[in-house]
Amino acid sequence: MKTKIAFFDAKEYDRQSFINSNIDEEFEIKYLETRLTSDTCKLAEGCDAVCVFVNDDVNSEIIDKLQAMGVKLIALRCAGYNNVDIEYAYGKIHIVRVPAYSPYAVAEHAMALLLTSIRRIHKAYIRTKDFNFSLNGLTGFDLHGKTVGVIGTGKIGRIFIDICRGFGMHIIAYDKFPAADSDIEYVSLDELWEKSDIISLHCPLTDENRHMINADTMAKMKKGVVIINTSRGALIDSEALVEGIKARKIGAACLDVYEEESNVFFHDYSNHIVNDDVLARLISMPNVIVTSHQAFLTNEALSNIADTTLSNVREFFEKDTCPNEVCYKCENIGSCKQTHEKKCF
Ligand code: NAI
Repeated sequence: MKTKIAFFDAKEYDRQSFINSNIDEEFEIKYLETRLTSDTCKLAEGCDAVCVFVNDDVNSEIIDKLQAMGVKLIALRCAGYNNVDIEYAYGKIHIVRVPAYSPYAVAEHAMALLLTSIRRIHKAYIRTKDFNFSLNGLTGFDLHGKTVGVIGTGKIGRIFIDICRGFGMHIIAYDKFPAADSDIEYVSLDELWEKSDIISLHCPLTDENRHMINADTMAKMKKGVVIINTSRGALIDSEALVEGIKARKIGAACLDVYEEESNVFFHDYSNHIVNDDVLARLISMPNVIVTSHQAFLTNEALSNIADTTLSNVREFFEKDTCPNEVCYKCENIGSCKQTHEKKCF
C-alpha cells in the first residue's frame, strides 16, 4: 500500500521536484495549495503523513487534530523547526526534517544580497533598463579588508565564511557552541557588534535569541554596518531596524526573511495594498533589499529536499529508525542531535 501524504503550501516548483523524486510512485501525494491551519488540517483526513514548510504553523491545536485523524508523521521539507511546537508534539506525533539540502544555496544568496546592496546593483539594473547611464549615487565600497561578523558557524555559516575569505575579508564569529576543530576566530557577541562592518546571521531562531538584533545591540554596532539575515526574521526587531536605518546607524539591510513573513511571503500581492507598515517602510528604503525567503531556491536544493523528505517518510514507516527526527527530548538532552538510530518514542 502506498503511503499517503497531504502536502500543504504546495508551489509549482515543489510539485515538480517531488514528482521527479517519486518516480516509482511509491507515495500517494495530495498537493494542497493552502497552508496548514486549524481549518485546513481536515484536508489531511485519511493520510499517514503531512508535509509542511517554514510558514505552516504547527501548533498544539493542529497537532491534536492531526493525531485524532490518525496522522503519524509531520515531515518538514525544511531545516528550521521553530514553527513546530516540538514539546507538545512529543509522544503524540513524530516530526522529521531535512537538516541540510544545500547550505551553498543559502550562503551564496547571502553573498548575492550583500554584493547587490553595497554595489547598488538593484539601482543600476533599473536605471539602465530606462537608458539612464548616470553613475551618481551608485558609489559602493570594497569588501576586501572589511570585517564580517558571522553569527552561527554551522553548515551555512561556515560556507559563508569560506566565500568571505575568498573576497579577502577578515572574519570574526560568534556561536553558542563554537566549533572546537576550526580555525574560526570566535569573539563575544559584544565584540562582534563593535568590530563588524557587516553582520550575517546563520543561527536558528530560539526563544533565547529572538530579537537579538534590537535597539540596544544596534547601539553597539559601527555606524554604517550592513546587516544580512537569511536565517529567521524574528532574529531582528524589525521596528528597531527601521529606526536604526532612519537614524543612519545601519548602512544597509539585506533581508531574505522577515518576522511577519508568514502573512505575505510566497504570495503575489502586486495588486494589493500591503497592510504591514513596517515591511512597506523597509521595502521603500533604498538601502534595504528584501527577497521573499528564496535563499534555498536552487535546483540542487529542491531536489535534495524532495529526496530527503521522501526517504524520511519511507524510513519512518518501514523501519524503526528515524535519523532526521526532531523532538523535545533530543533538543533538551543535546547529546542526541537527531543522530540516533531509533525513533524518539
Ligand atoms: P546548523 O544547525 O548547521 O548551524 C546552526 C549554528 O548556529 C550551529 O553552529 C549552532 O551551534 C549555532 N547556534 C545555535 N543557537 C545559537 C545562538 N543562540 N546563537 C548563535 N549561534 C547559535 O544550521 P544551518 O544549516 O547552517 O542553518 C542555519 C539557519 O539558516 C537555520 O536555522 C535556518 O533558520 C536558516 N535557513 C534559511 C534558509 C532560507 O532559505 N533562507 C534555508 C535553510 C536554512
